Amino acid sequence: MAWLLLCLHLLFFHFPSFTSSFNFLCHHDESSALLQFKSTFTIRTDYYFCDELRLLKTTTWKNGSDCCSWHGVTCNNISGYVIGLNLGCEGIEGDIDSNSTLFNLSHLQALNLSFNDFSFNDFSNTHFPSKFGEFSSLKHLDLSNSDLYGEIPTKISHLSKLESLRLSGNGLVWEETTLKRLVQNATNLREMFLDETDMSSINLNFMDLIFNQSSSLVTLSLPRTGLSGIRKKNILCLPSVQELDMSMNELEGQLPDLGCSTSLRILDLSDCDFKGPIPSSFSNFTNLTSLSLSDNYLSGSIPSSLFKLQHLIHLYLSYNSFSGQIPSSLFNLTQLVTLDCSYNKLKGPLPKTITGFQKLVVLTLNDNLLNGTIPSALLSLPSLVNFDITNNQLTGYIGAISSYSLEELSLCGNKLQGNIPESIFNLENLTTLCLSSNNFSGVVNFQNFSKLQNLYSLSLSHNRQLSLTFESNVNYNFSQLRQLYLSSVNLTEFPKLSEKLPSLDSLDLSNNKLNGRVPTWLIETSRSLNLSQNCFTSIDQISRNIDQLFGLDLSFNLLEGDITLSICNMSSLQLLNLAHNKLTGIIPQCLANISSLQVLDLQMNRFYGSLPSNFSKSCELETLNLNGNQLEGYFPKSLSHCKNLQVLNLRDNKLVDKFPDCLQPLQYLKVLVLQDNKLHGPIANLKIKHPFPSLIIFDISGNNFSGPLPKAYLKCFEAMKKVSQVKDDGSLSYMETSLGYYSAKGNASYYDSVSVTTKGIKMTLVKIPTMFVSIDLSRNKFEGEIIDVIGELDALKGLNLSHNRLTGHIPQSIGKLTNLESLDLSSNMLTGVVPAELTNLISLEVINFSNNRLVGEIPQGQQFDTFSNDSYEGNLGLCGFPLSKKCGPEEPSPPSANKFWSKEKFGFGWKPVAIGYGCGFVIGIGIGYFVLLIGKPRWLVMMFGGQPKQRGNRRRTRVRRTNGSSMNQMVPMS
Ligand SMILES: *[C@@H]1O[C@H](CO)[C@@H](O)[C@H](O)[C@H]1NC(C)=O
Ligand SMILES: *[C@@H]1O[C@H](CO)[C@@H](O)[C@H](O)[C@H]1NC(C)=O
Ligand SMILES: *[C@@H]1O[C@H](CO)[C@@H](O)[C@H](O)[C@H]1NC(C)=O
Repeated sequence: MAWLLLCLHLLFFHFPSFTSSFNFLCHHDESSALLQFKSTFTIRTDYYFCDELRLLKTTTWKNGSDCCSWHGVTCNNISGYVIGLNLGCEGIEGDIDSNSTLFNLSHLQALNLSFNDFSFNDFSNTHFPSKFGEFSSLKHLDLSNSDLYGEIPTKISHLSKLESLRLSGNGLVWEETTLKRLVQNATNLREMFLDETDMSSINLNFMDLIFNQSSSLVTLSLPRTGLSGIRKKNILCLPSVQELDMSMNELEGQLPDLGCSTSLRILDLSDCDFKGPIPSSFSNFTNLTSLSLSDNYLSGSIPSSLFKLQHLIHLYLSYNSFSGQIPSSLFNLTQLVTLDCSYNKLKGPLPKTITGFQKLVVLTLNDNLLNGTIPSALLSLPSLVNFDITNNQLTGYIGAISSYSLEELSLCGNKLQGNIPESIFNLENLTTLCLSSNNFSGVVNFQNFSKLQNLYSLSLSHNRQLSLTFESNVNYNFSQLRQLYLSSVNLTEFPKLSEKLPSLDSLDLSNNKLNGRVPTWLIETSRSLNLSQNCFTSIDQISRNIDQLFGLDLSFNLLEGDITLSICNMSSLQLLNLAHNKLTGIIPQCLANISSLQVLDLQMNRFYGSLPSNFSKSCELETLNLNGNQLEGYFPKSLSHCKNLQVLNLRDNKLVDKFPDCLQPLQYLKVLVLQDNKLHGPIANLKIKHPFPSLIIFDISGNNFSGPLPKAYLKCFEAMKKVSQVKDDGSLSYMETSLGYYSAKGNASYYDSVSVTTKGIKMTLVKIPTMFVSIDLSRNKFEGEIIDVIGELDALKGLNLSHNRLTGHIPQSIGKLTNLESLDLSSNMLTGVVPAELTNLISLEVINFSNNRLVGEIPQGQQFDTFSNDSYEGNLGLCGFPLSKKCGPEEPSPPSANKFWSKEKFGFGWKPVAIGYGCGFVIGIGIGYFVLLIGKPRWLVMMFGGQPKQRGNRRRTRVRRTNGSSMNQMVPMS
């Protein structure tokens, strides 16, 4: 009994002492310092940087418990001092001032505060407290991505015990001396992750001096640090460094010759603006396991020096201009796991024999100029997981594939032929299979693909000779499938996939011969549904709300009648394209109320009545194409709620109104086409100071506008004054709608298209190049003189003022528009001479001055040597070439102008395209992104430089090669 009492006594009187701080390992002052530190911040539970399942460490921090048991806190076993604090990714929002009790933890050896927000309360005041330099025992400091700003304190160089420093992803700035002192003082420093810290004040030539001080540094990570300039000394020769990342700096010039032996194992020099060849001295990187030179301007062949690097595991050479064949020796590397040569200009066939590559996992050779067949050895590599050879010029049949580890197989955009090999259906691990845009033929039972249980994305589009068969009673099982692209594969019958498909992100059945009714289940199958260019005549009546559908493209079908009720039930639409059908009825008000809608394209139908009148305040429309209908009445003033509107096309309707002043405030409006309506009256004064700052296409032709030309407006077209630069690779950029959902998925986009008349030709821009700048005021009743301000619109490509009542002279200022390609002033009452300044218009391809009252000698030289009689007919007073009327001595001649000539003139890329669409299948000739709407031989002769016979030889190419369902790629001829 006494024993029991003793026990009770012990329990009662001694148990509390276990919870008293007396027996805690943690020191009381450090415990309260931690708690006080905690009290200065709040924690975000939805912090997106972090794992959703992250442990909120500080929730275990409680008064009255041993701080050494708290999550994130490490103590010395013996002394009890806090030596480690790990609050990485805690979601902290707060500040660290220099009086923070964090700095009381003077024994800290490891401090991790990464991925927090320490500029939460006061952005402008958040500096990096110099107190961090007083942690004299600190070995590991991680403050990456913690929203610290300003100069890195000089006192950081006092951290002489530092082994690891991570400061990436902040707004921090280095002083050269601070960095130098730190490297000198911290003799055990092994790794420095300084990504995105600002080192722009540090002379690159001193970098190796700074780091030469350190014999311990193994890892140096300096991407995007603003380092730039020429390297005299070679940072690649640092004696101890094994991992060096200098990517995303503007190092420029040639890759440095390696005049040293190095211990580098990992080298990243991607996106550094390097030019020229890879030096042969790179063979000295004998220890290299990973080399990235992607995204530079490197050229020449892939040198054999690289293949001496027998330890190479990862080699990234993409996005350069490497040319020539891929040398066979590359295929002998035995350790290689990743080889990325995509987006270069590599040519020729791939080697037949491959002795290495047994460990190769990723092989990306897409977007080159490779030809020949795919060597069977490549299709039997034992470890290959990702093989992408998209967009080359490969031919022939595909042999049997026995790389069973393959997950991504992308062969699209080549000229491969024959059957789809049966062996593909045995590749059970496939998640992505892209075979589109080839010449595959034969019959494929769609059921075969359901053997590929992991398939996520399947693209068979644009294989005209391929037949797919679907069995009606088969239980297709595509549990993972999210993207299915079956465009242009001659589907006549509806694939009876029925409800057995899972919910897809993207389904493309465009450009087939599907007909009849679009069933409800199909509309419910996918988030983005492309059924354009088929023969559908109606849509099932949809009577319940469908909120999963983001994009519906039914353009170029034979839809008839009034389907607006079905459409009104699709409440989440971002894109609705019903263009080029035979739809009638009134455009329903609901379309102005679907606030997610970004693109509404109803052009070329038979809609009548007035425009929707109440665009909501939350209108997100970027593109509104209602042209080619029978709409009448007034402009809805509420259109000004659509603040993001970029394209408004109301051409070819019956609108009766004044010029819509309500559009003036639309900051992003780039294209305004009001052609062929019944708009009238003078274009009145400005309502706001800077209207239409983004406008690049202004077409109000074919109305009844009167009065003088709208000088005040033309003056404000700021975007027409800036000549847009061609991209580095010479390609054009196009107006594109930022459809959030589609862009995120990277599988579809909507390019705006518009019909314009330029160079005397009516055409459709399938995509609108951002450099296409034009004004068309023709066929109105404008009067008075052509105003000088037009000469300030430097970027103009097309100017059409024809068929008005303009008088006076052609202003000399038009001679300043050196980008002008088409100028039409015909059928006015212009007088005087053709100013010689116009010979400065070196881009001019078409002029029309006919039917005016011009006199005197036609200026000669440059482009004026290329125009024909038609450009001048109906001006009785003109003489000289090309007219047969010679100029007499009495004819006024234009004063001579400055002459200059550029052969490198940048015109539009005239490339032919094949266009066609399912129903009725029309093939026509388009030109680049221009697709002719009506064909007249004269134009073709003009377009093809007077050699119409060339037409037959022209290769028909696609407008744009894509794996997926780019909506609106093609426009048929009408
Ligand atoms: C630190 O000092 C600032 C003023 O400089 C004060 O507002 C803040 O409360 C102090 N913080 C602590 C933890 O004492
Ligand atoms: C080097 O570190 C020591 C110890 O922290 C410090 O006293 C000294 O000032 C540092 N030297 C420099 C140049 O920062
Ligand atoms: C580096 O390579 C070049 C040429 O490949 C060679 O001449 C030079 O001796 C090498 N230097 C060292 C230090 O290995």
